[in-house]
Amino acid sequence: MKTILVTGGAGFIGSHLTESLLARGDRVLVVDDLSTGRVDNLANVRGHERLEWFEGSITDAGLVESLVARADDVYHLAAAVGVALIAKEPIATIERNVAPTQQLLAAVDRKHRAGHAVRFFLASTSEVYGKNPKGQWTEEDDLVFGATTRARWSYGCSKAIDEFLCLGYRRQSGLAVVIGRFFNVVGPRQTGAYGMVLPRFVQAARSGQPLMVHDDGQQIRCFAHVADVVGAVIRLTERPESAGEIYNIGSDLPVSIHELARRVLERTGSRSEIRFQSYHDAYDKDFEDIRRRIPDLGKLRRAIDYRPRYDLNAIIDDVIATTRAHDKSTVRRTATDPGRGVRTIRGHGVPLRLALRAARHGRGPPKASRPNRPNQPEAKRRHQPRQRQRHRTNSEAARTTEVARPRVGDDAGPRRGDRLSSCDRPRSQRPSRSDRFAQIGSPAPNCCAAAAYLSVASGSSARRSAARRSSDGCVLMNSGGLSPPTPPNRSQKPGASFGS
Ligand SMILES: NC(=O)c1ccc[n+]([C@@H]2O[C@H](COP(=O)([O-])OP(=O)(O)OC[C@H]3O[C@@H](n4cnc5c(N)ncnc54)[C@H](O)[C@@H]3O)[C@@H](O)[C@H]2O)c1
Repeated sequence: MKTILVTGGAGFIGSHLTESLLARGDRVLVVDDLSTGRVDNLANVRGHERLEWFEGSITDAGLVESLVARADDVYHLAAAVGVALIAKEPIATIERNVAPTQQLLAAVDRKHRAGHAVRFFLASTSEVYGKNPKGQWTEEDDLVFGATTRARWSYGCSKAIDEFLCLGYRRQSGLAVVIGRFFNVVGPRQTGAYGMVLPRFVQAARSGQPLMVHDDGQQIRCFAHVADVVGAVIRLTERPESAGEIYNIGSDLPVSIHELARRVLERTGSRSEIRFQSYHDAYDKDFEDIRRRIPDLGKLRRAIDYRPRYDLNAIIDDVIATTRAHDKSTVRRTATDPGRGVRTIRGHGVPLRLALRAARHGRGPPKASRPNRPNQPEAKRRHQPRQRQRHRTNSEAARTTEVARPRVGDDAGPRRGDRLSSCDRPRSQRPSRSDRFAQIGSPAPNCCAAAAYLSVASGSSARRSAARRSSDGCVLMNSGGLSPPTPPNRSQKPGASFGS
């Protein structure tokens, strides 16, 4: 049995990868700071005895060192992701995507020099080709970025530096690095909150909202199912001949974004309309998109005889089916008992159980583990005016999601007094209120659930009582009940015609 470290394992692709590795018998160490990922993504494998969960950042050198020390292989997926997010946060993009990769590679290199071979997979992106005008991109093609005044290119550049780092360690130390350039990976659990096109289209079609297509909709993309991509990643990483190589990974079946919107309408049976929106209105006047993005998969096919199982219709159907199933289970869970069904994830189970619960409830764990409150004598609390007491309880719950940060080697789980701010992200990085509305029926980015709760807590008493009835963060926060509200028009704005 191998021990595999997956960075970004609570993300969209990382969670599918984690499931596949567990299914084939590996022990999996997942590290994620939940900046764009969600603990709920790991709900299918909760309770798995070979899963260990570490909530933390790979910018933390001590954490990285101790995790790499235990790992036989490393799959590095943690990154700032999503062109929309990247355009807004170029500094964070470079900080998140470059220095942590070097830190991981340095730790792997130290282990390698001590005689332990560790395979290292880097999740790179088709964005590294920039706006290369070729019809189909092969791994040896030039990288053609736009001007540095256009922030969106920082993502591709940061991943290109990651690739240089990997190849440098290959050349200078002989590390077994494998680089995969993903092309528009889609499937269940992908969130539309950061500009990914398919989940946004499906969500809009299902809720009767217009599907917002950017520009003229003639941009060409190729969409691959996450299951096909994850299978390819594992097979490539395991193969000794892949060391030091770069592979395009995805689909090479092109479709225009307008056609994608039409197919989504057809397959959902929706009567939503398709609307066109300029990049200027959707983003800003400097936004620059890539018209055509098609990989040459020859190298991948030769290496692992790559044959994807899903075509575009099957992909869309899968996303629709899983979104429906998820909506039903979220509403059922919320309507009955939001806490039911939350079980302990073994390994470092207690922290993940708490994290799952906090994500679901949008508030802290049960009273027993709450800091401060147990120390306050009951008699003293009884003396406080009723109204004030309730107010403090709500805002306390909103501000503090008591997810104990697991420490490496700390099997004792959370300690009294451990506190994690409900949202560590700068305000500018959190999904907007309308984005949270747009996620009705799907889990909120958990770090924002408490913030959402706060917005309820400060709202009318009717909404406060709805929130108290069931505090599943985004699901209830603006409905005052269980029926989905009409999202503000603004929520349709991003409907991006690209996915990173
Ligand atoms: N989805 C795509 O189409 C696509 C395309 C090209 C490349 N990629 C690459 O694949 C990888 C996974 O992407 P995804 O689509 O699953 O996105 P995602 O946002 O769902 O996953 C990224 C994960 O990394 C975590 N993370 C970010 N910074 C971290 C840090 N400092 N420490 C710990 N965790 C951190 C996030 O919380 C998130 O869970 C990324 O490296 C991305 O660049 C994805």
